[in-house]
Amino acid sequence: KVPLELAELRGLALFNDERKGNCAACHPSVRGEHGAPPLFTDFSFDNLGVPRNPRIPATADPAYFDLGLCGPDRTDLAKKAALCGAFKVPSLRNVATRQVFFHNGVFDNLTDALRFYVRRDTHPQEWYPRDKRGKVQKFNDVPARYRANVNVSEAPFDRKRGMAPALTAGEIEDMVKFLATLTDGYQVQQ
Ligand code: HEC
Repeated sequence: KVPLELAELRGLALFNDERKGNCAACHPSVRGEHGAPPLFTDFSFDNLGVPRNPRIPATADPAYFDLGLCGPDRTDLAKKAALCGAFKVPSLRNVATRQVFFHNGVFDNLTDALRFYVRRDTHPQEWYPRDKRGKVQKFNDVPARYRANVNVSEAPFDRKRGMAPALTAGEIEDMVKFLATLTDGYQVQQ
């Protein structure tokens, strides 16, 4: 057991704070039954509306969508429209060692993944392309008929365009430092 540094502790507090990151709502940070160390996933599924990744060859076909639970890879839940676009909440253990983030790998660094969380609704133009008439195509990797499935109620997704993001750039930096403590073999730097 090692103590965390101040920035890491601030990051953990923001991670747990229901009105800031609210991350622990889906990525629980406390010990489980019988004192099992936290896995940072509640094993549920959710639809975050992450941007389409044009680097995936299949997306050259505008009709192609990876809808997670409802297909096309898995077929058993194909008729459950409410599950379309939902993906498993991943564990955040060793998350700082990953090279790509979210189910389609649209981001290649943790800072962008966290910026997306808090700026998706306040600054959608930073994440989604515009159509020919200049309208931002929010949730462009979810077909229009399933866009109502995207989570827009829980913090940090409970904001509107023009509002302040739930985390500042400095707070995101602290949270990235905290997430790096979830890497196996983590040691406090002397
Ligand atoms: C409402 C539930 C929910 C909340 C709240 C939430 N997450 Fe997530 N998280 C998910 C789901 C679901 C995914 C996978 C989504 C996907 O791939 O489309 C995910 C994926 C991630 C990933 C990508 C991991 C990888 O290996 O690709 C990171 C990093 C992450 N979450 C961190 C956070 C942080 C930090 C917060 C708080 C700011 C947070 N999450 C809040 C549900 C949530």
